[in-house]
Amino acid sequence: MGTKILGTGVYLPQRVLTNYDLEKMVDTSDEWISTRTGIKERRIAKEETATSMALEASKMAIENAGVRAEEIELIILATLTPDKKFPSTACLLQAELRIKNSFSFDLSAACSGFLYALDVADAYIKSGKASKILVVGVEKLSEIVDWEDRSTCVLFGDGAGAMVVSSSDEDSDILASRMYSEGSFWDILYAEKCGYIQMKGKELFKLAVRSMEAVCREVMEKAGLSTEEVDIVIPHQANIRIINSLADKLEIPKEKVFANIDRYGNTSAASIPIAFHEAVSTGRLKRGDVALLTAMGGGLTWGATLLRY
Ligand code: ACO
Repeated sequence: MGTKILGTGVYLPQRVLTNYDLEKMVDTSDEWISTRTGIKERRIAKEETATSMALEASKMAIENAGVRAEEIELIILATLTPDKKFPSTACLLQAELRIKNSFSFDLSAACSGFLYALDVADAYIKSGKASKILVVGVEKLSEIVDWEDRSTCVLFGDGAGAMVVSSSDEDSDILASRMYSEGSFWDILYAEKCGYIQMKGKELFKLAVRSMEAVCREVMEKAGLSTEEVDIVIPHQANIRIINSLADKLEIPKEKVFANIDRYGNTSAASIPIAFHEAVSTGRLKRGDVALLTAMGGGLTWGATLLRY
């Protein structure tokens, strides 16, 4: 039995914050932000909550999957910006979707959250414990960004992405995955309970490239596939220089690497499902293609998933 991605969806707030807007807020420039990060603009939630953004992305994913919301047996929602201490944003989403007879939980793995959640969903499906699962990544990072700290506020954005996955006998499947965490590196990227994002950018940069390269190689080896057999790489969108370095190390041509960081910045757990949806909706990722997803974030956490779409 395989795990098939039936449908995807996204929600991005209307409000756009450009680098030029940021020039008026902190001592920075479009030139610095563009060349160091690849980001030109990001979306910032206004009235939206994590739950409302997750709801819109989920409704789109459910519709694109061609299923009814009532068929969802499990909701796994990755976020580091939940609306409440408890209950989980997954439970709030379940209520909005009016889904009964299912169970729901949040998962916390920062920027790797969506890949962790997809991995858990795959395990539930392959163990036979659930057959239709809604996997969501959502962030309202604008709430935990210090808008006076130019070293971090230029990097992040808000948004949501969702996927409906299902058990299937077809060719589509998650071929291999591997998740890691290294808790002793927690202070490289964190936020206190009511505090702002703190980050050691340079250290993170090097660790991100090194660990994502290693875990990508590991999953390709596990699945017995070479880099030439990968049709598209969808990496976590943290910095275009990290993405380009990763592509160089893996010796994968840049045309095969998906990037939308210029428009959304780093949306943490939402970044991979947003990118995945855009890859599908623009025809960059087609049925039968092999996609390599990889992320690294606070924890530190990192991982990679290789799938046939
Ligand atoms: N505008 C203008 N100048 C700035 C800004 C800014 N927004 N931010 C920092 N600077 C200045 C610094 O003060 C420093 O000045 P100095 O030389 O006078 O001291 C100079 O620019 C260089 O700063 P660095 O921090 O050394 O710049 P670097 O080239 O390392 O780029 C960056 C910083 C973009 C954060 C980079 O290190 C990075 O992307 N790291 C990865 C972090 C990341 O992606 N985090 C997201 C979460 S984790 C993940 O998703 C992988």
